[in-house]
Amino acid sequence: SVICLKDYKKCGFEVESCELYFELFEEFVIVTNTMEINKLDAQEKHIKLDSQELELLEVYLNDLKLNDTRYDIQEESFTVYNVPNSFSLKIKNKLYPQNNTELEGLYKSGSIFCTQNEPEGFRRITPYLDRPDIMSVFTTTIVADKERYPVLLGNGNKQSSHDLADGRHEVTWFDPHPKPSYLFAIVAGDLGVISDEFITASQTKVELNIYCDKGAESKCFFAMKSLKDAMIWDEQKYGREYDLDVYNIVAVDSFNMGAMENKGLNIFNSHYVLADEDKATDADFMGIQSVIAHEYFHNWTGNRITCCDWFELTLKEGLTVFRDQCFSADLNSQEVQRIEDVKGLRERQFVEDASPMAHPIQPDSYISINNFYTSTVYEKGAEVIRMLHTLLGESRFREAMDLYFKTFDGRAVRTGDFLWAMSEVDKEKRVDFTQFKRWYHQSGTPILEVKDSFCDGVYTLDLKQVVPNKVDEIKQEPFYFPLKVGLIGSDGKEIKEEMLVVSKEEESFVFEGLEAKPYLSINRGFSAPIIIKQEKNEYAFLMKHDKDSFVKYESAQSFALETTEKLMESAELDAEFLNSFGYVLDLDVELSYKALLLELPSISSLMQRQKVVDFTPIYKAKERLEREIATEFKEKLLDIYRLHHKPKNKELDTVSVGERALKNRALRLLSSLESREVIDLAYKQYQESLTMTDRVVALDVLENITSHEGGLALDDFYERYKDDTLVMNKYFSIIAASQREGVLLRVIASQDDEVYDKRVPNLVRSLVGVFAKNYKYFHAADGSGYAFVADKIIEIDKINAQMASGLASAFKIYNRLNQNNKNLIKKELECVISTHSLSKNTYEIISKILKI
Ligand code: ARG
Ligand code: ZN
Repeated sequence: SVICLKDYKKCGFEVESCELYFELFEEFVIVTNTMEINKLDAQEKHIKLDSQELELLEVYLNDLKLNDTRYDIQEESFTVYNVPNSFSLKIKNKLYPQNNTELEGLYKSGSIFCTQNEPEGFRRITPYLDRPDIMSVFTTTIVADKERYPVLLGNGNKQSSHDLADGRHEVTWFDPHPKPSYLFAIVAGDLGVISDEFITASQTKVELNIYCDKGAESKCFFAMKSLKDAMIWDEQKYGREYDLDVYNIVAVDSFNMGAMENKGLNIFNSHYVLADEDKATDADFMGIQSVIAHEYFHNWTGNRITCCDWFELTLKEGLTVFRDQCFSADLNSQEVQRIEDVKGLRERQFVEDASPMAHPIQPDSYISINNFYTSTVYEKGAEVIRMLHTLLGESRFREAMDLYFKTFDGRAVRTGDFLWAMSEVDKEKRVDFTQFKRWYHQSGTPILEVKDSFCDGVYTLDLKQVVPNKVDEIKQEPFYFPLKVGLIGSDGKEIKEEMLVVSKEEESFVFEGLEAKPYLSINRGFSAPIIIKQEKNEYAFLMKHDKDSFVKYESAQSFALETTEKLMESAELDAEFLNSFGYVLDLDVELSYKALLLELPSISSLMQRQKVVDFTPIYKAKERLEREIATEFKEKLLDIYRLHHKPKNKELDTVSVGERALKNRALRLLSSLESREVIDLAYKQYQESLTMTDRVVALDVLENITSHEGGLALDDFYERYKDDTLVMNKYFSIIAASQREGVLLRVIASQDDEVYDKRVPNLVRSLVGVFAKNYKYFHAADGSGYAFVADKIIEIDKINAQMASGLASAFKIYNRLNQNNKNLIKKELECVISTHSLSKNTYEIISKILKI
């Protein structure tokens, strides 16, 4: 059934307090839940709680045991009839976490008991009003065997602990901050830990712990450093302090998403906690820094102020992503961070926005809310916040955030409340919030068509917004956004920079008093999440002269995109493009930034510009461009490689990371020559480098050009790391992403590897998920790639619906493909959707793709 935004109703009850008692055993768990409940609406006679597949044992109303005529338990609900105005409800039920493969509610990751309750996992633990606007004070007691589970964790502060008979022990946690059930968590296990402390700005000491599998403690230090960096940053940037005596983080291997911000007890996918230079890449370290910060920032944007219902998800996620992006930019490089964020947005969100799965950052309906933890809600949501930040300016934005925290602390609110705070500080009424709100309710990526002209000292910009229709073809209204532009003289000197505000479908802006027609630098810093279409492009000029690091990058990308597209019509290679590329090779800029300037457009970005997609010519043209560049600049690329290849350096400072990024870019470009020289370089790099960054690049390069050295290196890698599942994810990804013939057979065979486990989401994503992004083989003309992934969806749907629907979304570019591929996909998806007892998660994705 479809849940709709407009159907929200306030709950007729409140839960004043909730006391949970967990008795953990190997075969089952007994949960006793005691709630103090008040009726808010006198009309309510019965209380209907959310409950999913629970085995009920006993029910007490005000300490009186109820017989089963007084309540009703169904698959998805639990109702108690005729309840008084205020009452205590005690429910005892039984769970089987060891059989919980959905990884929602209480489950086991290896031998660790852990939970994932956002958005609706709590109802798999105990009957409850499992909605984010029900906030309650939780006390948690966990009882377990002391030897097997010496560590017992809950939300909040530890209240008491003591030993019991039979080798068992009991720990009680109390969280003074009222919270919705999705933030509830427990953990029990025999865990390793590293500890530290943080003194807040108001001089309160906070104990910090990161728990992990025993033996992995040494891989937690970077995460700990990141946590402390995040704590200081939120104090300095937003005046936000932490509010409990302890902050616990637990790393587990089986986790559906990246991590979870449970109050005082974050639970993380171990990928975002564990790292050392030998086993994690520079990108992995960045990922840890940003996810640790993201979950920490949720303490204020998400936990203290939470969402009224799940349609408001972007209220906490868009805002928190914006905050973690700013944090990463402050700690590392502003220019690199911005480009990486935009790259991610365009690879994931733009594709989603152009697909039948397009939705506004505030969706208006859903079948399974789990399907809406999307790039649109997260990344586009962050861009919408960033536009507000740009429109209001840094200090006004901070003022508005202060007001937001002050006004709504402790409450479950809506994006409208957030926008109210933003509009309150806009004293001069410069921003039209009514129109700006369309970003929350409209989907699709607007295109801005740009024309310009010059006459009598006046430069005119003519802008036309092409507003996409909604998925159901309903027309949408023009957007309101900041557009940062720069005008540059032909001597390369900046004339002016201005922030225009675009609001109409067609609109002109004039700049007077100019001597000659200036060069236009548009959408600086990617000030709006839109697509720019220009009549005449001055890429070479902007690559040289633009002071805006984003537009410089964008010009290099666009130039390469257009050049590749020309090659698809098999024209000659544009000599000016080669010149510009050569110019960038010689540029003296920050090395990581330079590596980005030299990156050629991805297959995905080329694909997005095609009317009817056929991957074969795209790959051909891209491969040809790489070869031409490598041939033309071979010596220069080799020089860059030799200059920056420092195999014994494993430092993580900006220069070291930049050197690795740049010389690995050079190595990748050179690899298109498929020469002996390059194979030797890569093989040597694989053997001698101390960092995982260098090792995976070398491995990937070898895998893609030679079965001999590729095979040797891959075997060596396997032997070396087969006991480390995080590293084995990389191994499977390299196989699944390979451009060499026979990939599908190797992927199929890899499933039988003893390291592979289809119940572990990371492994499925690394093998099947990565294969579904290997466009060359996933979209193979014989349909073999589709058939394989469709089979996996059916198989995994029975184990973990969230994982299956994630895989299903790989088919979302269906409507853009050529007829042959479309027919092949249709056949497979029709088969998936007719599968008996398919989850609603997977059903929702596939029915949207097929437009059922
Ligand atoms: N709130 C978490 C985060 O963004 C994500 C949890 C999503 N979980 C899920 N099962 N959909 O950090
Ligand atoms: Zn989040």
